[in-house]
Amino acid sequence: MAKPVSSFTCTACGAVHKKWAGRCDACGAWNSIIEEAPLSAGPPSKTLGGARGRPIELSTLSSTEAPPPRTRSGIDELDRVLGGGLVAASAVLVGGDPGIGKSTLLLQATAAFANAGLKCLYISGEEAAAQVRMRAARLGLQNAPVHLGAETNLRDILTTLDAERPDLAVIDSIQTMWADNVESAPGSVSQVRAACHELVTFAKKRGTSIILVGHVTKDGQIAGPRIVEHMVDTVLYFEGERGHQFRILRAVKNRFGAADEIGVFEMTGAGLSQVTNPSALFLSERDRPAPGSVVFAGIEGTRPVLTEIQALVAPSPLGTPRRTVVGLDGGRLSTILAVLEARCAIPFTGLDVFLNVAGGMRVNEPAADLAVAAALLSAREDVAIAPDCVLFGEISLSGALRPVNQTENRLKEAQKLGFTTAIAPAGSKIGGGEGMRVRQMADLTAFVGDMFGAG
Ligand code: TYD
Ligand code: MG
Repeated sequence: MAKPVSSFTCTACGAVHKKWAGRCDACGAWNSIIEEAPLSAGPPSKTLGGARGRPIELSTLSSTEAPPPRTRSGIDELDRVLGGGLVAASAVLVGGDPGIGKSTLLLQATAAFANAGLKCLYISGEEAAAQVRMRAARLGLQNAPVHLGAETNLRDILTTLDAERPDLAVIDSIQTMWADNVESAPGSVSQVRAACHELVTFAKKRGTSIILVGHVTKDGQIAGPRIVEHMVDTVLYFEGERGHQFRILRAVKNRFGAADEIGVFEMTGAGLSQVTNPSALFLSERDRPAPGSVVFAGIEGTRPVLTEIQALVAPSPLGTPRRTVVGLDGGRLSTILAVLEARCAIPFTGLDVFLNVAGGMRVNEPAADLAVAAALLSAREDVAIAPDCVLFGEISLSGALRPVNQTENRLKEAQKLGFTTAIAPAGSKIGGGEGMRVRQMADLTAFVGDMFGAG
C-alpha cells in the first residue's frame, strides 16, 4: 500500500498544495501554508476506528436555561462592547497595533473585574513582573487583588491555571506564548494556533474566561492565522490614530452580543479614561463653519455618534491626481466621486482630493455617503454647509438617496447636541427628532441643486 502523504494547506484561504511554499499561489498570503497529517486510508468506518459511534443526544430549540452569567467590570465602555459584561467561560481576543494601549486597557480591565469579585490572573509574556507593577502603580491600581505572573511557557501557564482555577485569565500576548510540543519559534503560525487552541479548550472545560491579546499586522489582520479569530467567542479591535489620544474598542465578532459596538476611551497620563459622550468629543474641534467640513450623524453598534467629515479639494500638479483618505474606505470615495461626475456632471478630474474623519474615528457605514459627497462639494465649490446641519444617507450608483436604519436615533442625537437641521433621504422614517427640521431629498442631483444652486 502506498505510504500516505501529508498535504499542505493555506491557513488564509484553505487551498491545498502538494508541497510547502513560502507564499500561497491561490491567495498570495505569505507564510500561511502548514503541513497537515494525512488521514489514515480506508473506508470511513475504518478511519474512525471501525467501531460504531454513540448516538448524540438531540434536543429542541426552546430552552429553559438561564442566559450565561455575566460580570460587569464597571467600565461601561468595555462592558457594552462585550455585550453587557464578561460571559463566564468565554474566550475573547483583543487585537491592536503595538503601542496602542492594549496592555494598559487590559490591566485596568483585570483590576476592575478583580474589584468586582472575580479571581483574576494577569500573565504577561512581554513585560517583567516589575514592569507591570510599575504600570499598575502609575494607573493607581496597585491595591487591586490581581494575581500577576510573567511567563511565556504555555505548559507552565496551563498548570498554574489548573491549580489556581481563576474566573478570568488575561494572556498578554498570544504571540509570545510558547508551546514546547510545537517545533517552531514563538509568534509563528503554528505556535499561535496551538497556544490559542490550548487556552480556549481550557476555558471551555474549566469555566475560566480567557482574554488573549493579539498584535495586528500592517494590513490589519491579527498576526498569526485567521483561525485564531474563529476559535474565540469575541474579537475586539483596539484602534486609534497614533497622534490622537482617542482610542476605540470595536467588537468585530461577538457570539454574546452585537458586533459593531464601540467603546470610546481617551489615553491620558494616568491610563485610559472613558468617553461617555463621543459625539461631543469628535465635534469639539469644530468652532465655526468651514468649507469642506460637514457633520455626519452615524450609528456605531447601538449608539448614535456624530462625526465631522472633512474634505480638501485642490488643483493637482500630478498627472494622476491624489485620492487620500483617512478613516473611511478608499473604494467608497472613488464610487462617490464617480457618481458625482456621471450623475451630477461635477468632475474631479485634475483635482487632488483629501478626505478625513476628524478625531481619529473610523466610519464604515454606507450611510456616510451623503456626508462625504457634501464635504467634497463644499470643498470644491468653497461653500460652507450650515454649521447647525447634519447629514446622512446612502448613495446608490444611479445617484438616488436611499434611506438608512435608525433615523430616529440619529436625529435625537443631533438634536441633543444642538443641531437644528438634518438632510436625509426621501422616505426616511422621521420621528424622535421633534424640533429638528428634516429636509428629505430623493437624489443627489436634488441635493446639489439645493445646496449649490444647480451645481
Ligand atoms: P501599551 O498598553 O503598552 O500598548 P500595547 O500593549 O498595545 O503595546 O501602551 C503603550 C502606550 O501608552 C505608550 O506609548 C505610553 C502610553 N501610556 C500613556 O499615555 N499613559 C499611561 O498611563 C500608560 C500606562 C501608557
Ligand atoms: Mg503590550
